[in-house]
Amino acid sequence: MAKKKQEKSKQAKASKKSARKVVKLAPKKAAAKKVNGNGLPRPSSKPWGQAGKALTGVRILDFTHVQSGPTCTQLLAWMGADVIKVERPGVGDITRGQLVDVKGADSLYFTMLNHNKRSITIDSKHPQGKRVLDELVKKCDVLVENFAPGALDRMGLTWEHIHKLNPRMIVASVKGFGPGPYEDCKVYENVAQCAGGAASTTGFRDGPPLVTGAQIGDSGTGLHLALGIVCALYQRTRTGRGQRVLCAMQDGVLNLCRVKLRDQQRLAHGPLTEYSQYSEGIPFGKAVPRAGNDSGGGQPAWLLKCKGWETDPDAYIYFITQAPVWNEIADLIGEPTWKTDPDYATPKARLPRLKKIFARIEEWTMTKTKFDVMEICNKVDIPVGPILSMKEIAEEPSLRKTGTVVEVDHPTRGKYLTVGNPIKLSDSISEVKRSPLLGEHTDEILKDVLKLSAKDIAEIKNSGALSAPKKEEKAA
Ligand code: COA
Repeated sequence: MAKKKQEKSKQAKASKKSARKVVKLAPKKAAAKKVNGNGLPRPSSKPWGQAGKALTGVRILDFTHVQSGPTCTQLLAWMGADVIKVERPGVGDITRGQLVDVKGADSLYFTMLNHNKRSITIDSKHPQGKRVLDELVKKCDVLVENFAPGALDRMGLTWEHIHKLNPRMIVASVKGFGPGPYEDCKVYENVAQCAGGAASTTGFRDGPPLVTGAQIGDSGTGLHLALGIVCALYQRTRTGRGQRVLCAMQDGVLNLCRVKLRDQQRLAHGPLTEYSQYSEGIPFGKAVPRAGNDSGGGQPAWLLKCKGWETDPDAYIYFITQAPVWNEIADLIGEPTWKTDPDYATPKARLPRLKKIFARIEEWTMTKTKFDVMEICNKVDIPVGPILSMKEIAEEPSLRKTGTVVEVDHPTRGKYLTVGNPIKLSDSISEVKRSPLLGEHTDEILKDVLKLSAKDIAEIKNSGALSAPKKEEKAA
């Protein structure tokens, strides 16, 4: 009691003091405004903020083609690097002319992988072309390539040659396989998906292996390579030396499939109880099976039909029966007894009954659209995901707002949609600039980067090192 009295009198004194004291508060600073609705703080107005980008000052000699390498250099370009794409005169990156939709214009395949880059045409096998390339090696920080094994060496651009010209140069490559029995093989996306363990673990148990629509071999490896390059650039700030960076597509895919290698080892200790195969009583073989739409994690999940599924191929929802919200699920679908019934109340008890459980949940989801299910479930924290078609994604306003889907204008094809930089930095804002026309910046690069005179440029041009062989010119 005495203690309480003391405390009360202390409080009273303190409140009297504070009543007398006039504390002048500094005006509250307005909260940082969001940029483009991307949820990040405003970029700094200090030097190197706003106008500067994360990789401003880094120059990339981009020898990439098709998808894996271009994905990597496009990311670096979005982060502010000056990416100089070297292309074969007359032809360029083969994708310029692949899957053409607008006659006479670069394909979407090319434009969507080569934003924010500059293009120079150089015949890398022409003696004068080799000289230009050597000069560019001296002026660049990173060389990125994804030629077939040995092609860069055959151009004379061996690691030794490059390193002698520019010891700070980082040389980064995508190859299909790392050192070993397949190192000399040419590889495309689906070869990597097959060799990296994705195809054998994708699809339904009673069907053949499946490749996925996500380009985990090409774009996935390009992403890995970009990280390797940024790490090498960071290490160079301490060592002053460049280094080789290699990403094999098989390794990149396997890295993305690591949960399946996890399951391979778990198989030695018994059946994979979260796979629906277990609840169906089908024995496991020696290797990780295809798991259909089972969840890859510890929370059982499945793809369920929604209202309209009979006519709309994308009227589905991915439904995760996360243990902490089991009670909410049971209430929603009208099975409140499942909250206490020992056959359903615990995750372990539910495992052998997953097929029946998902069939019951589906009865409920089929009465609602995928967006209704999303809204109802999110209110009670049940994790679900509507199957979105590419049409729905292209038209989704929130993705446009964050710059994830961007409309770009192109001089020969007009307006088109592309995927913007998925990595958002608050002080390094990406604007998506159209891809370059073939050789669009040849003169500019020779002049501004190599500081060549008009006379030198004319001489190189006359040598034929920057243009397509005459025969092709005639044919055109
Ligand atoms: N000037 C002159 N020659 C050039 C040139 C230029 N500017 N640019 C490329 N070339 C030449 C190369 O030197 C090579 O010639 P060579 O074989 O006589 O030495 C030739 O063009 C073809 O290169 P290559 O990489 O073999 O192309 P390809 O079309 O035959 O193969 C791939 C394509 C993708 C299969 C192969 O490059 C590859 O396996 N790359 C590594 C893995 C990879 O990235 N795959 C995914 C692609 S999305």
